Amino acid sequence: MRIYHLSAECFPVAKVGGLADVVGALPKYQVAAGLKAAVVLPYYDRKFTREHEFDIVFQGLTLLGTRRLYFEILKEKTNALGFELYLVKIPGLIDRQEVYCYPDETDQFIAYQIAFLDWINWSGQTPDVIHCHDHHSGLVPFLLQHSNAYKRLANIPTVFTIHNGQYHGATGWEKLSYLPDIDMTKTGLLDWAGALNPLATAVKCCSAYTTVSPSYLHELTINSNGLEYLFYIEGYKGQGILNGIDTDVWNPAVDKLIASKYSTTRITQGKNKNKATLCQRFGLSTELPLVVFIGRLVGEKGADLLAPAIERSLQENYGHVNFLMLGAGDKNTEAELLSLKEKYTEHYNVFIGYDEALAHLFYAGADFLLMPSRVEPCGLNQMYSLRYGTLPIVRSTGGLKDTVIDFGEQGGYGIRFNQANVDDICYSVNRAIVLYNDMPRLQKLRKTMMALDHSWDRSAAEYVTLYNRIITAS
Ligand code: ADP
Ligand code: GLC
Repeated sequence: MRIYHLSAECFPVAKVGGLADVVGALPKYQVAAGLKAAVVLPYYDRKFTREHEFDIVFQGLTLLGTRRLYFEILKEKTNALGFELYLVKIPGLIDRQEVYCYPDETDQFIAYQIAFLDWINWSGQTPDVIHCHDHHSGLVPFLLQHSNAYKRLANIPTVFTIHNGQYHGATGWEKLSYLPDIDMTKTGLLDWAGALNPLATAVKCCSAYTTVSPSYLHELTINSNGLEYLFYIEGYKGQGILNGIDTDVWNPAVDKLIASKYSTTRITQGKNKNKATLCQRFGLSTELPLVVFIGRLVGEKGADLLAPAIERSLQENYGHVNFLMLGAGDKNTEAELLSLKEKYTEHYNVFIGYDEALAHLFYAGADFLLMPSRVEPCGLNQMYSLRYGTLPIVRSTGGLKDTVIDFGEQGGYGIRFNQANVDDICYSVNRAIVLYNDMPRLQKLRKTMMALDHSWDRSAAEYVTLYNRIITAS
């Protein structure tokens, strides 16, 4: 079965968040299961692309409205990632460093989708399934069915996976002229609330859509930035498939990015060594429970709650807990987190920035990982944290709800709270401090969480079942 995954991110080529981790892992597991899975990304001028060799497998000319664009499809030579990796390169438009946030980002992503479709069309390929991830490839299901330019491809089934329903890629109708030779009676499919909305278009036109956790499937009908009704009416096409984690990359027994490797047989020793390295680097004592946060500093992650919650918690528990933050994003939040440093030097520190290696050391060296997310479609951090024996403290939402059971319940191993607010966070941190002071119990929980299986095997199989179903129906 031939599958093309279309995504803006793929680890280790270009990563902003969990989308990259998923698209860098799922195809690898699919290839191992006998599928011919490949990833097609926009080209980025980054370390990976500079350090790897590529063949030009296709060259073409296409149109973006009245603009003529030359494009190339590059294929990574060695299959270094465990699957075929293709990059769409358009000099002057898709050949830059950053993944998002260029003023002409809409043009970039539309051109990327058109170049992909032109390539498979002109090169005579008919993949069994095209699997689109998030709004950056959300117009593909529409173009396949309603553009005369791609008539030959019209029956290819599509899966659309929603990693984040808050971002829609909505744009003005002037971009309609970019879509090649479309059936103008079908433009209603592109519309949501008066804008051209790629996420809504994908949900309407795909053969099936998935969310990255079962809970999030339901939550989209309550909170999806204006698409709630759409998810309600299209719900029959939806399915929640929980993300897995890449256990080749996230495994404390072989992880080269941590200070000391460990497995379930020597958890305490291993974690203590990593904690010592981490605490030394950030000037914190190893004696106290260490609560960390890793992530994008945005409202969805509850990042604005961190500074007030940490301040309150440190005032109430001064000398009984340490906090350490790793993240980048909203400038106000960054400034607030930085300003706490002077006040609480001995018990708090923060690293503002993105650092993949440091994140591994955080997961290994911390005692607790805090995730006060307002919205969390799946969340990978808590699964990495479980794998490294670091107890997750999570708000009960989306994938966090589906992967973390409170230690107060039968078989539980984490801490869950209901409201994304300072009170609930502080109360949960207090529970963590009490637990830390009952070390035998914490050690037992660490063993339980490290033994959990969050690898991709199960979820990868669910995708195959879904592919088979839509292929049969098409
Ligand atoms: P999201 O995709 O919404 O950001 P996920 O939990 O799915 O959330 O994935 C986040 C990924 O990004 C994880 O691999 C996490 O370790 C990583 N990450 C987030 N922020 C940073 C950072 N500042 N430095 C290093 N890694 C980070
Ligand atoms: C998104 C979500 C996150 C999820 C990731 C991978 O970025 O915010 O919750 O884990 O995609 O699916």
